[in-house]
Amino acid sequence: MLRFLTAGESHGPELVAIVEGVPAGFDIDVAKINGDLARRQKGYGRGGRMLIEKDEVRPVSGIRFGKSIGSPITFIVENRDFKNWTKKMSADPNDRAEAVPVTRARPGHADLAGVLKYNLEDIRDVLERASARETTARVAIGSLVKQILSPFGIDVLGYVASIGATEAKTPTTLDIDELRRVTEASQVRVADPDAERKIIAEIDECKKTGDTLGGIVEVVATGLPVGIGSYVQWDRKLDGRLAFALLSLQAAKGVELGLGFTAGRIRGSELHDEIGYDNASRRFTRHSNNSGGTEGGMSTGEPLRIRVAFKPLSTLMRPLRSVDIKTKAEALGAIERSDVCAIPAAAVIAEAVVAFELGVAFLEKFGGDSMLEVARNFKGFLEQVRDF
Ligand SMILES: Cc1cc2nc3c(=O)[nH]c(=O)nc-3n(C[C@H](O)[C@H](O)[C@H](O)COP(=O)(O)O)c2cc1C
Repeated sequence: MLRFLTAGESHGPELVAIVEGVPAGFDIDVAKINGDLARRQKGYGRGGRMLIEKDEVRPVSGIRFGKSIGSPITFIVENRDFKNWTKKMSADPNDRAEAVPVTRARPGHADLAGVLKYNLEDIRDVLERASARETTARVAIGSLVKQILSPFGIDVLGYVASIGATEAKTPTTLDIDELRRVTEASQVRVADPDAERKIIAEIDECKKTGDTLGGIVEVVATGLPVGIGSYVQWDRKLDGRLAFALLSLQAAKGVELGLGFTAGRIRGSELHDEIGYDNASRRFTRHSNNSGGTEGGMSTGEPLRIRVAFKPLSTLMRPLRSVDIKTKAEALGAIERSDVCAIPAAAVIAEAVVAFELGVAFLEKFGGDSMLEVARNFKGFLEQVRDF
């Protein structure tokens, strides 16, 4: 079973990711993982930290001479900013006096519920781990898993569908490679230059007024075979697992598969994807893909299309009303160094999360201890489906 754990505080010395269940024999290109970490750090509207830090993984287990060897794979990502936090984030009780506690809870962040739950006096003890810095580890893991899926023709891409009130008109004619080229070239990861201009203007405006912006990202996965995930038990359903994983992301507020909420507003005759059969390729086909690529908790073999809505960032440079947790007096929410808009990064993060969940379901169906075994199982199933 493919699984992972991450650890690390936002301003601690490093982030750690341990991934277990990667079969032996897969080519693992660490430069590609660092490429995805760089994608996560880009995007108009990001703040100072992105300038200080260039994230890179240091692989410390599970990879030898560019290949997985079947043992747990561990990545370390150094927090380069830690040099400015050595005393304030120290494990040594003698350094306590060096840190000024954060006591003004920010509405929208984990601050207030976190201190009450863990009985803590310094909001920093909460925000350090609640921070989306944690997603650096998840991007590294998703990027690794993309390298397991890629030899089987599966490709995953995240991009931005809207920021604030501006919706990008993403051309439906683009294939995944073209969509990647266009959205990666955009400063806000959209495939619509008009929308890009409007979004940049709105980010600039929010920067001036001390406000923040949310948005919606879309993840597409192509090349999926039919039948990963299962209907037989609730926790094996692919759609449910994707939604759980995506909603576990910081600031994620909603997930839609295919037509999503629109499916609840139209008729069955307008929604369901009619079935055909292509004699030449001996495969079942669909006349549309409104389902977004899953039916009954299983992949249909059509591209996966899933959207995630993220709320605006919680730290406002013009802070909202709050209360000091120590004095209980009215106060404005604390200001941490923060971005105006992180939606272009959220697209890369959602892509990684989807890749991981697809990897879990893929290896559940085709898994083995080596790539050879996985490839044999995969090929055998495709033949079985073709001969059905
Ligand atoms: C990529 C990304 C970057 C974020 N950066 C910030 C930030 O700089 N400042 C901030 O206050 N919140 C930031 N957040 C949002 C908080 O992490 C989020 O509000 C918090 O975790 C609570 O979210 P929840 O209610 O969905 O759990 C970011 C979220 C994401 C996905």
